[in-house]
Amino acid sequence: MVIIEGVTFRTPIVISSCPLTESVAGIEKCMENGAGGIILKTASDYKRSREEGTRRILHAKEGYWAQSTFEKEIMTLEEADKLCKTVGSREDVPVIASVAGMSLKIDEWIPVCRQMEKAGASMLQLDFFYLNHLWAEEELGPKITHLVKQLREECRIPIMPKINVNLPADFIFPILKKAGIHTVSLLDSVRVPVVPSWISGDGQNTCGMTNEGTSFFGAWQLPLTLSYLMSAKRYGFHVIGGGGIRSKEDAEVMLRFGADAVQIASAAMFGRYDIIGEYAVLGNLI
Ligand SMILES: Cc1cc2nc3c(=O)[nH]c(=O)nc-3n(C[C@H](O)[C@H](O)[C@H](O)COP(=O)(O)O)c2cc1C
Repeated sequence: MVIIEGVTFRTPIVISSCPLTESVAGIEKCMENGAGGIILKTASDYKRSREEGTRRILHAKEGYWAQSTFEKEIMTLEEADKLCKTVGSREDVPVIASVAGMSLKIDEWIPVCRQMEKAGASMLQLDFFYLNHLWAEEELGPKITHLVKQLREECRIPIMPKINVNLPADFIFPILKKAGIHTVSLLDSVRVPVVPSWISGDGQNTCGMTNEGTSFFGAWQLPLTLSYLMSAKRYGFHVIGGGGIRSKEDAEVMLRFGADAVQIASAAMFGRYDIIGEYAVLGNLI
């Protein structure tokens, strides 16, 4: 059992925000297999206006590539509210709502944070993935501090920002410390250009993917995750850390490096429930 900011997780293995955690069936499957906590797919306060688009996943030797659209990936507030109320936080399997705004304006974050808190979420994950255009902003650091501080004041449940590689550790961690944050989630997927081998001789992109919004997932991410983890621990944060975890051994490495709990997305999506199961069996949960 792990307790982070007063929230109890029956095991230290948490399912990251990912396609499994956008449906009741996916979440129940994770719970049945002994997950210690669930981070819901990210939600934002917006209206879905156009065709949803598709989510493409292509496998390569070293990992896999995924491409999608904002509207396909991000739940509306209504969808997330309904999902959270349906699955409900169990006493020792917290449901963490993941929320996103498209800018650092507080008005874009408050309604979704308030509603997910009301819907019964045990914690809030702040998803900064869609803010990667922000580096042109003046006073970026103070703006992030201000936003996060205000959200902490507005919400009674713990707030956990999710770190991605656009936010260098020694930039973001002092900012979050200043905003009063105690727990961070890491490390989000890494956006990359499409590899040249997918472009055929005549210059056609044969896999139909574009550079926009493509992320690459695989075991190579683990060293990056560990580096962010070590840094976060140096700043004194609790960490729910993942990104590149492929086996029970990887999860153990994360815990030994100081993670309070470990997140898995891809491994769970591809059915590696044994990573969760080990801890669940130890705790007599399955
Ligand atoms: C298809 C897909 C969708 C994802 N959607 C979200 C999301 O909505 N919010 C979020 O915070 N992370 C999202 N992630 C990122 C995962 O939570 C996780 O950080 C990332 O996959 C790295 O972990 P892994 O190596 O265990 O897959 C998504 C990942 C995948 C593969």
